[in-house]
Amino acid sequence: MIYTKITGTGSYVPSKVMTNDDLKAFVETSDEWIQSRTGIKERHIVTDEDTTDLGYEASLKAIEDAGIDKSEIDLLVVATVTPDNAFPGVSNMLQARLGLNEIMSFDINAACSGFLYALNIADKMIKSGAFKTALIVGAETLTRLTDWRDRNTCVLFGDAAGAMIIQSSDENKIKDVICGSRGDVDSNLICKNVDVKDPMVNAISEQDHIHMNGREVFKFATRILPKTVNDLLDRNNITLDDLNCIVAHQANERIIDKAARDLNYPMEKMFLNISKYGNTSAASVPLAIDEAIKSGYLKKGDQFITVAFGGGLTWGGALITL
Ligand code: ACO
Repeated sequence: MIYTKITGTGSYVPSKVMTNDDLKAFVETSDEWIQSRTGIKERHIVTDEDTTDLGYEASLKAIEDAGIDKSEIDLLVVATVTPDNAFPGVSNMLQARLGLNEIMSFDINAACSGFLYALNIADKMIKSGAFKTALIVGAETLTRLTDWRDRNTCVLFGDAAGAMIIQSSDENKIKDVICGSRGDVDSNLICKNVDVKDPMVNAISEQDHIHMNGREVFKFATRILPKTVNDLLDRNNITLDDLNCIVAHQANERIIDKAARDLNYPMEKMFLNISKYGNTSAASVPLAIDEAIKSGYLKKGDQFITVAFGGGLTWGGALITL
């Protein structure tokens, strides 16, 4: 039986910090409103870097952390909704920039759940026996899709990348990964592509921005997070007492707090770093896991669930032992 384990993690954020007070230059808001409604104090935003640049820096750190030679990597999956091009993918450009072998590399789009989708795919591909060492990246420059005139959304997002090396193993460490979606609720959270229109007939349209019904997304998130955690516990015949902590997608501290209360799980065991980064979409989960490990919050041998939700609508969760 082939199993999988995490052997390295890394993350990267651009250096420019935008505080809640800085946002007052664009929209009518306040540090008090943003912190009390979301838990966010500041976010990092790109100035001249693109999604591939962020993914590159995070990947270098994950490869170093794993202590592997990059020639061992035989699969690269990047989760992003902010690719730099329609093609080539961020993954293809990372393959070249990192100097990897001519391996299979591809992007996937599952919004903020993207990293869980990428983990699920890579985990199953390694467990099939076809691959041995995967680099999985969540990289986003969501501020490029942000409408800086819309206070309902622009206060929420930041830019970042997180990366993880997973490898085949005789130890069963990545125990279970599950994902789901329902696409009938797209009016609650959507960012359209540029419409392809005949310029002889229609004006060429501009890039769309993120549109969100915050209250509906909040309701969905607070339902799906505890459900995904409970599904993972049931499928693996364990209880919350068997976990050292939960690392949830950092979209809103109030969402995490409500999920913890509904699960009857202590908030101290819900990892939080949203105050520094805001919602970084597909980068949120690997950034949080990397910080949890590097800060000592998660230790070798700890068992945790990581769980995310996002546009699509999509969701995913994983039960992992370090
Ligand atoms: N500053 C000040 N006031 C604001 C701001 C702001 N930045 N934003 C909204 N308000 C106002 C609203 O206009 C409203 O005023 P009104 O009552 O006069 O109309 C009031 O504050 C309350 O607005 P609500 O929308 O009810 O605020 P709520 O408490 O629901 O918080 C929030 C809004 C933070 C967006 C919350 O609903 C939320 O977090 N939802 C989930 C968001 C999410 O996780 N999205 C994931 C998307 S990521 C992806 O997949 C790409």
